[in-house]
Amino acid sequence: MTRTYRICLLPGDGIGPEIIAEGCKVLDAVGAKHGAAFSRTEALIGGCAIDACGTALPDETLAAAKAADAVLLAAVGGPKWDTTDPEKPRPEQGLLGIRKELGLYTNLRPVQIFSALAGASTLKPEVIDGVDLMIVRELTGGLYFGRRERFYDEEGGGANGARGQRAYDTLEYREYEVERIARQAFEAARKRRNKVTSVDKANVLETSRMWREIVHRVGAEEFPDVELEDLLVDNAAMQLVNRPADFDVLVTENMFGDILSDEAAQITGSLGMLASASLGDGVALYEPSHGSAPDIAGRGIANPLAQILSVEMMLRYSFDMADAADDIRRAVTEVLDEGWRTGDIKQADTPADKVVGTARMGDLVAEHL
Ligand code: IPM
Ligand code: MG
Repeated sequence: MTRTYRICLLPGDGIGPEIIAEGCKVLDAVGAKHGAAFSRTEALIGGCAIDACGTALPDETLAAAKAADAVLLAAVGGPKWDTTDPEKPRPEQGLLGIRKELGLYTNLRPVQIFSALAGASTLKPEVIDGVDLMIVRELTGGLYFGRRERFYDEEGGGANGARGQRAYDTLEYREYEVERIARQAFEAARKRRNKVTSVDKANVLETSRMWREIVHRVGAEEFPDVELEDLLVDNAAMQLVNRPADFDVLVTENMFGDILSDEAAQITGSLGMLASASLGDGVALYEPSHGSAPDIAGRGIANPLAQILSVEMMLRYSFDMADAADDIRRAVTEVLDEGWRTGDIKQADTPADKVVGTARMGDLVAEHL
């Protein structure tokens, strides 16, 4: 019997609609092969939602996401909606809002090298050889969601007592938030190479000292079999490009995870290849790690592979379809091994007839399934 899963599609802005179409193509191909069907509803998020409804996360979108078995998001944002005015809506509020509302506190960002693309990295081949790491980013706390304010300071202050604008953001964590993300990291490590690197700034920040204490307690009490090391975030940024292959699971707070995951993506040299999963206790959300690339939107040249690989993660984490997920990864690997490239991952020696657009890349992966 064919099982039917309900998927809420959030194409968003920029290249979003183009790449999500390829994700759906691959879903249908993998479903036909592995005995599953995927029904889909579509909703607005980000800039397109601001244009249509005045808010980046309309209530109907949230309701559609909650009613689904999983959410597949493409990307949000673009210059059209860029503003520093605190009163104006921003596309990113849609993304942050849905993460918070769905309680998606765990963000998994795997970083792996496809051997056909090893030459795309700016790092030396011997440095990236064997890189296979997973960033576990806390996603609903910390600086992103702390109290913040911007105001005009009548009293003045500072060295010369000047009056002017003031603003602050707060970095706050509660014990349970650190405990649960630590557990996710240890669990992930058990399925991998059994090593967790906890990244903090415990030499400066109180939240980091608490973070470190809690991660160590959870590790000692519940995961004594998993190796645990601490790394200060500035050092982690350096070690990631110095000896990336040494890392297995990196766990860290929201903002550090945001920054380190972009850095880690560059190890592979192809941000267009990296997927992510955001998990909580209910419906989960899957999205590429890259943005909406407004500069190439609508031209049919965007790389759909990160979106396709987020479908892979969806099958693995939400639908327990590990075989189907492996199948997608195999298909993508084969397509790359045959030399097919989108513009962003083409190399100096890529023949012109191997450079394909978004839809053709999706077709190739579907054919290989
Ligand atoms: C990411 C993005 C988002 C974040 C932005 C778009 C709000 O950079 O998913 O890493 O900062 O979390
Ligand atoms: Mg980011």
